[in-house]
Amino acid sequence: MSGVIVIGSQWGDEGKGKAVDVFSSTADYVIRYQGGSNAGHTLNIAGQKKVLHLIPSGVFHSNTICVISAGVVLDMETLVSEIQAIKESGDGLSDSSKLLISDSATVLLDYHKVLDQAREKGAEKIGTTGKGIGPAYEDRASRKALLFRDLFLDEKILKHKLERALSEKNFLIEKFYKEKAISLENTLKQILFLREELRPYRCQDTSFIIHKALTENKKVLFEGAQGSLLDILHGTYPYVTSSNTVAGAALVGSGIGPGFIKKVIAITKAYTTRVGGGPFPTECQDKQGIFLQKKGEEWGATTGRKRRCGWLDLPALKYAVRVSGITHLALMKLDVLSDMKEIPICVAYQLNGKVVPNYPIHSSELTSYKPVYKILPGWQEDISSIKKFKDLPKAAQHYITFIQQESGVPVDMVSVGPARSATLWRNQLFL
Ligand code: GDP
Ligand code: IMO
Ligand code: MG
Repeated sequence: MSGVIVIGSQWGDEGKGKAVDVFSSTADYVIRYQGGSNAGHTLNIAGQKKVLHLIPSGVFHSNTICVISAGVVLDMETLVSEIQAIKESGDGLSDSSKLLISDSATVLLDYHKVLDQAREKGAEKIGTTGKGIGPAYEDRASRKALLFRDLFLDEKILKHKLERALSEKNFLIEKFYKEKAISLENTLKQILFLREELRPYRCQDTSFIIHKALTENKKVLFEGAQGSLLDILHGTYPYVTSSNTVAGAALVGSGIGPGFIKKVIAITKAYTTRVGGGPFPTECQDKQGIFLQKKGEEWGATTGRKRRCGWLDLPALKYAVRVSGITHLALMKLDVLSDMKEIPICVAYQLNGKVVPNYPIHSSELTSYKPVYKILPGWQEDISSIKKFKDLPKAAQHYITFIQQESGVPVDMVSVGPARSATLWRNQLFL
């Protein structure tokens, strides 16, 4: 067993990019298996900030092979510019064998983005990233999607497939949403250009490659996007993304069986953030929320939107532990909590004066739940250059062990800054 799944346990932006980059120093493969360019994973490479939307966060390690597997929706334009930026910086992808794109991945085109953005103008908006994720997954489910392999078909056949797709989409775009139709000729021209840029990375069967690596006991890391509470089935529906984000999605999205999985590591922010609409019981809209937003620099890495901020929600974390089978926690951004006299942590909810201990099965109930807080002591020291758990202030150690006790899962890694070096290990997580 050599597969490790890394997921977010909250509503995304927990710090998965940093954690995966740190784990990747010893990874042979890093696989993205769901989501698309709605993800924004931030890494800090030698003091420089890098944001990845589609390329796995192992890309800055020369020994690591990055794979985009079948479960991903591929925004080709974003992918091509991401590849170009990395190549130009000289930081990675020096040779094309370092990135493999599954022939079975779903292609995401401009009409998906137009539909996504048009829907968001309506009253029932979700607060999506506008990147076309929902419409692209809809196409896959309704068996109308173009797959990555289709792009390499003869131009005439490709044009015919595109024509069929656009006739339906343009009907919706023009007649229902009253937006400007998408041009067939322009889309075809765009695809013909982008496919040549991506041809070197084409891989017929990434499941085969991943399976082979696992059977050879290579270190394979599965990098989740978004977070467990944004899962299409198990999240705060309808305020969710359109893919499965729980750990099981790693298996489905990359086409491997569960027997290979050794660990499920949940990346968990020491407090909570959320972008877009939906319930968020521990949200703080007062000066403490502003403190977290400012100190944590909580701006969306994909859309630049201000992230909503609040305290850590333990019932929600326990729910994520259950639905994803989390075996280890990595606690991120603990440094942001320094300088606070006291830190509230949600241990249960309250509804009409009654205590509700568990995260509700109908997430719409969350809207009326009020958090019950336990107040833990804060610490005033700057912890961002501390290297060992035992050197952390006692109150910070207590905060960590409290989370561990309540969640029933060991906190094996603690992050105290965006850089690779700002990482404390209690147990080596990825070897
Ligand atoms: P992801 O989507 O889960 O990869 O997270 P994002 O990249 O969207 O957001 C996390 C942000 O926190 C990024 O700007 C990271 O550089 C930053 N970050 C990660 N770990 C830490 C940490 O321990 N402390 C601080 N202060 N920032 C961190
Ligand atoms: P990473 O991987 C935080 C949110 C959007 C919106 C909802 C649906 O960086 O953690 P979508 O565009 O997916 O249809 O939007 O999901 N969302 C994220 N929030 N981090 C992300 O990714 C997200 N990807 C989608 O804000 O509320
Ligand atoms: Mg992000």
